[in-house]
Amino acid sequence: MSPTTSPSPSNTKVVIRLPGEIDGTVDQDQEWCEIEVDGHSSRLRFHDYDKIYDIPGAYEALFYDELKCTSPTVVRDLLERALRNTGYDASSLRVLDVGAGNGLVGEEMRQLGSSTVVGCDILTEAEAAATRDRPGVYDDYLVVDLTDLTEHDRERMRSHEFNCLTCVAALGFGDMPPEAFLEAVRYVSPTGWLAFCIKERFVGEEDESGFAKMIRGLIDTGVLEVLERQRYIHRLDMRGRPLHYEAVVARRAPGSEHAL
Ligand SMILES: C[S@@+](CC[C@H](N)C(=O)[O-])C[C@H]1O[C@@H](n2cnc3c(N)ncnc32)[C@H](O)[C@@H]1O
Repeated sequence: MSPTTSPSPSNTKVVIRLPGEIDGTVDQDQEWCEIEVDGHSSRLRFHDYDKIYDIPGAYEALFYDELKCTSPTVVRDLLERALRNTGYDASSLRVLDVGAGNGLVGEEMRQLGSSTVVGCDILTEAEAAATRDRPGVYDDYLVVDLTDLTEHDRERMRSHEFNCLTCVAALGFGDMPPEAFLEAVRYVSPTGWLAFCIKERFVGEEDESGFAKMIRGLIDTGVLEVLERQRYIHRLDMRGRPLHYEAVVARRAPGSEHAL
């Protein structure tokens, strides 16, 4: 293991150790590393987000410094290009950022000029980390399971009158299932924007996750018009090999409010 040491916002010393060469196949939801915090080491799966968010600086140290994740900026740049090409003013965006985590994507949307940015995540630890690491980025933050919303949650979602949905590094692999994504799309107004990324395997012909079928269905039934698509390297895997994703920017079609 080759360690990477990163300073954290709270001066906690975080050291990441990746396993390097190991035998067999390890899918993305089984990847792991060792995280040493102030001299105490523990083994965590990359998907133990609750534990990772609880350590200031650990999420950035692992996914950004060590694994070179690019997704928040790739998705933001693609959305920015689509807005420019259509002459849409970013300051009119009212963004629902689902799978928001500790706020990296919310921060990108703020920098783009969005007037409203609301986070949504299934974990209370994500909201706490966003408040700790990026205070003021989100106007509101809903800790909910999108597949099991209460009427109160629905009302809170509707009250923000979203016209943009972002979802970065949060689809599939035990994170958001297709139904959760579809539920989020329902809160985006017709003509609203969608900017998201997904592992390329999940949008290919051989996909069994249900995402390819759902996205094709939304396009074929005229609910979504895809404006931009880009294949890119989302991050490295735990052995240092590139993971390819697709970034997509689409718009909800006018009159599609009853089609979902
Ligand atoms: C890899 S993190 C991405 C965080 C952020 N979007 C980023 O790019 O840094 C995935 C996030 O999705 C959240 N998540 C997983 N399943 C979810 C669900 N069903 N509904 C909402 N969020 C979910 C996780 O809790 C986690 O915070």
